Amino acid sequence: MKLLVTGGAGFIGCNFVHYMLQNNPSTSLVALDLLTYAGNLSSLESVIDHPNFRFVKGDITDREAIFALFEEESFDAVVNFAAESHVDRSIHNPGVFLTTNILGTQTLMDACRQYNVGRFHQVGTDEVYGDLPLDRPDLLFTEETPIHTSSPYSASKASADLLTQAYHRTYKLPITISRCSNNYGPYHFPEKLIPLMITRALHDQPLPVYGNGLNVRDWLYVEDHCAAIAMILEHGTVGEVYNVGGHNEKTNLDVVKTILDELGKPHSLIEFVTDRAGHDLRYAIDPTKIHNELGWTPKTPFKEGIQKTVQWYLEHRDWWQDILSGDYRNYYETMYGNREKVS
Ligand code: NAD
Ligand code: TYD
Repeated sequence: MKLLVTGGAGFIGCNFVHYMLQNNPSTSLVALDLLTYAGNLSSLESVIDHPNFRFVKGDITDREAIFALFEEESFDAVVNFAAESHVDRSIHNPGVFLTTNILGTQTLMDACRQYNVGRFHQVGTDEVYGDLPLDRPDLLFTEETPIHTSSPYSASKASADLLTQAYHRTYKLPITISRCSNNYGPYHFPEKLIPLMITRALHDQPLPVYGNGLNVRDWLYVEDHCAAIAMILEHGTVGEVYNVGGHNEKTNLDVVKTILDELGKPHSLIEFVTDRAGHDLRYAIDPTKIHNELGWTPKTPFKEGIQKTVQWYLEHRDWWQDILSGDYRNYYETMYGNREKVS
């Protein structure tokens, strides 16, 4: 089995590469990544010389390069993680989200058609379903929940999902789609909530919580997401969508307080700042379908996952300090420089 993993130097993509090399010794992997600000080759350092692994720097929107790679490698399956993934960046600069997330997906699927690839798996997000009210804990996202997006990021991911389903219906492309809730774990770029808060708390810097901090996310340890994708690749039904999530809803404030407690830092580091525009209130996944059909169930409780994650950031300071010393600083200024402190 030869797999193309796009976005393999990003957070979930690199975890998936590590997971597959550890758990599926007969699989060989090519990781393709443009190494944008979010891609970090050092996340693949430990596998770079693995006999079943190859890294290729490339752009999923570059048709010529993509078709040449497919011609050269004869892939059995493609897992598409490559994307612009940060909601706040999509609010500041939507254009690249449409190009990468929609046209890049199209390019990959065109190459899959041309070279008769056996499976195209699109890594999607629960954000395509919009949000749920805070006062209706009985409501969850199922695969039948209507698409209803809030941010340019989620709109671009929804477009990619719809295009993927259209390629299945029109061209019989053998596709599957997973829609996962918020992931956390090792190699998470420190612009997203959990790694941002860990790295800032370690520097005793204020922790910027948007609005009142009561928005809810459904957190899943990244390795559990990787296991779900591996199961879908092996046993999933072509043409189907699978929601992936762990019934693990937490307010942002609770997550930030848990991190501070793990690090032995005071809650006074929390600083409430202006809310995100269009901020989704609550995400919550119903994973019944993937559980019943494929037997997937998350293995890592939040308490254990967050401890492992905090420990990883403590033990891998070089990984994130290299990021912080790069252009991330300018990025932080752009995103937070104009946010008013409200308490
Ligand atoms: P990430 O931003 O950490 O990684 C994305 C990777 O894609 C980076 O390595 C980047 O260099 C690469 N990339 C960007 N543009 C590219 C291009 N044109 N060509 C090739 N590579 C390119 O994102 P992530 O958190 O690892 O998310 C991976 C996928 O999972 C995304 O599709 C995202 O929408 C989806 N997802 C993420 C979460 C989450 O909580 N992080 C949850 C559900 C779904
Ligand atoms: P994020 O990690 O950006 O993921 P997503 O928006 O895709 O769910 O944000 C998670 C939650 O944390 C979201 O409700 C926004 C909030 N948040 C903050 O309060 N402060 C921050 O600095 C960031 C990055 C996010």
